[in-house]
Amino acid sequence: MVSRMKALVLSGGAGTRLRPITHTSAKQLVPVANKPVLFYGLESLADAGITDVGMIVGDTAAEIEDAVGDGSKFGLRVTYIPQEQPLGLAHAVRVARDWLGDDDFVMYLGDNFVVGGIRGLVEEFRRRRPDAQILLTRVADPRSFGVAELDPSGRVIGLEEKPDDPKSDLALVGVYLFTPAVHEAVRAVTPSWRGELEITHAIQHLIDTHADVRCTVIQGYWKDTGNVVDMLEVNRTVLEGVERRIDGDVDDRSETIGRVVVEEGARIVHSRIVGPAVIGAGTVVRDSYVGPFTSVAENCRITDSELEFSIVLRDSSIDGVGRIESSLIGRHVEVTPAPGVPSAHRFVLGDHSKVQIHS
Ligand code: DAU
Repeated sequence: MVSRMKALVLSGGAGTRLRPITHTSAKQLVPVANKPVLFYGLESLADAGITDVGMIVGDTAAEIEDAVGDGSKFGLRVTYIPQEQPLGLAHAVRVARDWLGDDDFVMYLGDNFVVGGIRGLVEEFRRRRPDAQILLTRVADPRSFGVAELDPSGRVIGLEEKPDDPKSDLALVGVYLFTPAVHEAVRAVTPSWRGELEITHAIQHLIDTHADVRCTVIQGYWKDTGNVVDMLEVNRTVLEGVERRIDGDVDDRSETIGRVVVEEGARIVHSRIVGPAVIGAGTVVRDSYVGPFTSVAENCRITDSELEFSIVLRDSSIDGVGRIESSLIGRHVEVTPAPGVPSAHRFVLGDHSKVQIHS
């Protein structure tokens, strides 16, 4: 009999700022090509043949439950597991102990994005069944990740959480495959300098006790670090893969070229959309140009403007401002020209905003 494999998806944590956008929100719901980053993770679990998902939730439980529901739209059965406080990733495994039982599982951090999914990795784990398998990726600045040290044969010999002086540029990706051997390890760890029970330390405990811990180095990985360039880049990567679909209304004075998605209820009036681009439900694009690698979310108004390589989140309007490029525009934002004062700029900018002005 093929052993059952579950998934533990971590969508807890405190409600934090959706960096760099100033809204208190679950970071797992940051949109990539108009879809929450968490949904891509759930889809890749379903694609890997997993059906049982335990979803760790914290302060933002209502928002997560509202978005994911019972999981049936992903072909999953989701059980919500409340974690009273975000005391660490190993703590989340402790909290889920009863639900996990003695099954193997994938632990998936809900704010992580793995391009190309995880089906191959899950298959490999099932075939070889080491005690644990971790994913690593090369990053420019490893100090905000768990970091692995490998011996010359490629075996993991040491792991450190957010080291000041990293021993390599190999960061731990937030997808881990475990057998029940991890339960003893998560019981063994004590709080780190940041007061959390670290899964990194639990895996180090497995290594120290001579368990079989394997690693796979992957490419194509993203998590929200508050960096706009990275966010535009992952959005671009996902848009590269969209298929043309026009469910909304495109008038006969408009043109949609290439891989363009116009969601139902969206309206394109006297405009030109060049894909890959997505236009969310209820959005109206009028007398405008929307160029490649652009996502416009739901219920926006784009009027008399040009937009390229940008992300616009829901309920925002851009009206008569010429060309916008490489920009990230949050929710409920209004971008308009300044009336009557051509040489002055007027702003109402939220916390952590960044504006570049043509001077
Ligand atoms: O993203 C990869 C990194 O994730 C790894 O390189 C690190 O080794 C690992 O410790 C973790 O680091 P972060 O500090 O970035 O993790 P963060 O606190 O952002 O939590 C990751 C996800 O897990 C996030 O979706 C929130 C959720 N979470 C977090 C904690 C601490 C929980 O559900 N419960 C928790 O107690």
